[in-house]
Amino acid sequence: MLGPVILAASRSDRMRRLVSAAPVTKQVVDRFIPGETVDEIVPIIEDLTAKGLELTMDVVGEDITTPEQAEAARDAYLELIDRLKGLELGTRAEMSVKLSMFGQALPGGHELALANVRPVVEAAAEIGTTVTLDAEDHTTLDSMFAIHEELRKDFPQTGCVIQAYLFRTEADARRLAVNGSRVRIVKGAYKEPAEVAYQDKAEIDKAYVRITRILMEGSGYPMIGSHDPRLITIAQELARRAGRKLDEYEFQMLYGIRTEEHLRLAAEGHRMRVYTAYGTDWYGYFMRRLAEKPANLRFFARSMISK
Ligand code: FDA
Repeated sequence: MLGPVILAASRSDRMRRLVSAAPVTKQVVDRFIPGETVDEIVPIIEDLTAKGLELTMDVVGEDITTPEQAEAARDAYLELIDRLKGLELGTRAEMSVKLSMFGQALPGGHELALANVRPVVEAAAEIGTTVTLDAEDHTTLDSMFAIHEELRKDFPQTGCVIQAYLFRTEADARRLAVNGSRVRIVKGAYKEPAEVAYQDKAEIDKAYVRITRILMEGSGYPMIGSHDPRLITIAQELARRAGRKLDEYEFQMLYGIRTEEHLRLAAEGHRMRVYTAYGTDWYGYFMRRLAEKPANLRFFARSMISK
């Protein structure tokens, strides 16, 4: 029951101020968000790629309120891409973006988000890599999919995320499992109403398996975003049955979660991509990680009390 309460708190400005100001927050946050600046994150990128892992980079931030903030978000990605130029990692370091951070919720937001994300996709292509559009709450998805379709006209490798908890997602998966499109399937991390989403964990897992099968049997490139050992084993089996080779799909996990599993899958020859978030506006991202696992919250609460 804690998860929905934490997700509600993730939207509260008062909680944001309280949590962000707590002196011990930083050390707990570091587990999931290992840097605040490009200078801090570049050595981490070098270290992880040297270990055989691939990365998708997220400059944290969302729910911005002015067009200037959206431009700043765009520029933060451009700065990172510029720094990656010299490392020549190609698709081993791609970008994940949240369109809300590019202005999607502002007046004229659809056009604004498209205008801000396009230069990032262009710059990524120039250094031989790609961008994936994250999935946010269900009210934003029609706009996200339309922007994805638009970007794919010039940059067919642009990826997007679909969420197993939404009723709509099987149909989205069928539409997207074509023409080499890159699709990340995740369970879903937002608080969604029963009218649009499964609420029961077992139902979400069953939907995840059905959708993974659609992606594996299609002609796109499936990206399996999960830490769930059962779903990872099932995905491997579905890939085998669909006749996919190890480089014809990939696993993705979040930085700081089941790290030994990242290395195990990479050592087995799988493409293993670590979603690595960095930046100063980490509150929303951090709260979703707490909501996914109440033990994280207990750890966080204990460290606050023990100080
Ligand atoms: P589940 O939550 O059942 O976790 C399985 C096991 O993994 C747990 O038992 C625990 O051991 C470990 N674990 C999972 N989460 C943990 C945590 N926070 N802390 C510690 N241990 C944890 N969502 C979304 O709505 N839009 C998006 O764009 C994305 N993008 C995305 C990218 C990638 C690469 C990943 C891995 C995930 C996302 N997500 C996401 C988040 C996703 O929707 C989901 O909330 C989390 O992945 C947790 O679900 P699992 O599939 O890992 O299963």
